[in-house]
Amino acid sequence: MTRGGGGIALIPTANEQTRNRDTHYPYRADSYFQYLTGFNEPEAVLVIVVGSGDAAAQSILFCREKNIEREIWDGFRHGPVGARELFGFDAAHAVGELDAKLPELLANQPALWFSIGHDAAWDQRIATTLNAVRAESRSGKRAPATIRDVRAELDAMRLIKDPTEIAVMRRVAEISTAAHVRAMRFTAPGRFEYEVEAELLHEFRRRGCEFPAYTSIVAGGPNACVLHYVGNDQILRAGDLLLIDAGGELGGYASDITRSFPVNGRFSGPQADVYDMVLGAQAAAIAAVRPGATFADPHEAALKVLAQGMIDLKLLSGSLDAVIESETYKRFYMHRTSHWLGKDVHDAGEYKEGEHWATLLPGMVLTIEPGCYIRPADDVPEAFWNMGVRIEDDALVTTDGCEIITLAAPKKIADIEALMRDAHAD
Ligand code: GLY
Ligand code: MN
Ligand code: MN
Repeated sequence: MTRGGGGIALIPTANEQTRNRDTHYPYRADSYFQYLTGFNEPEAVLVIVVGSGDAAAQSILFCREKNIEREIWDGFRHGPVGARELFGFDAAHAVGELDAKLPELLANQPALWFSIGHDAAWDQRIATTLNAVRAESRSGKRAPATIRDVRAELDAMRLIKDPTEIAVMRRVAEISTAAHVRAMRFTAPGRFEYEVEAELLHEFRRRGCEFPAYTSIVAGGPNACVLHYVGNDQILRAGDLLLIDAGGELGGYASDITRSFPVNGRFSGPQADVYDMVLGAQAAAIAAVRPGATFADPHEAALKVLAQGMIDLKLLSGSLDAVIESETYKRFYMHRTSHWLGKDVHDAGEYKEGEHWATLLPGMVLTIEPGCYIRPADDVPEAFWNMGVRIEDDALVTTDGCEIITLAAPKKIADIEALMRDAHAD
């Protein structure tokens, strides 16, 4: 954090969310809070007294008190004493004391770092607290003169993964590729999309993932042309492709993988044409990932291959330059090729530095996910109708290039066909 003259940072975790009546969504801590603390209980707030000059920063946790009655019903709580010992905070208090302590914590601090605008109730709470400090001005207390968005500081940290984070991301990648292999082996005509989804979820969970990192997309035939399809309730038909976009979450880190393959295990000629075009685009994008390249380089590399492929397949007409310039490719490729990956599937971190695309650095993790989605239309060759293909892997930027941490899920046509042949022979 840019310490300057010091200040105080306030990072609350996420609220529990009601799903319906007295049922809750599975609880997931706020990513910023979890990044800084590793503490996964709800109703918790981290305060960092930044300190000025060489003064050491102080971490203070506010969390639920121990409560034998509630622990019988809902499970273990660390309580402030336990949390301080186990997680190494400098101090910890009951969360019920926060409102009383906040004015004195904020008083005379030159700056407050906070996620402004993230949660209206917190915005109001901060405003009330600042006014409480201002009301004491005649006794010499001053409210922070500067309020800064703490996310800007934390995003820059989260963008570069340290060795511990990379180890967790490798592990969740390994689990998620195993889930894709399992789903591929299971897929056959007559199965339902939700049955395939169940195979994915089974593999995530049995290998220790707490959650899927996002709602799995299991999209057969035309459903693959719906980019965020999550219905997952249709029957799979021979002759169609199946697109699966799914990844587990482990220790608060996401994996994000897409594979596209034929329901019956054999690519038709037109399916292979579209598939190999997307695979070629992905290879070009991966080759563009290295330190010093920009975030946009993989996208531009993928676009060239896709646009030329669309011309060759007679999906588009005109020269490569004209197709790229006029963006006519967007009819079949309407999303970008990459996003940051980490605690959030679309992870924290800026994509631009001023006017320029962010520079790739070792320790960054980004997805490489070109695709092609072809809806029926009079001016589109019928052989390609209803094909949706995306191939998505997770790339760790290394000192001299990148490492794809999700390679264990097969993506060459011959490898997919061999795996499915083997599965159906069982
Ligand atoms: N699964 C979300 C994405 O690929 O961006
Ligand atoms: Mn993605
Ligand atoms: Mn994805």
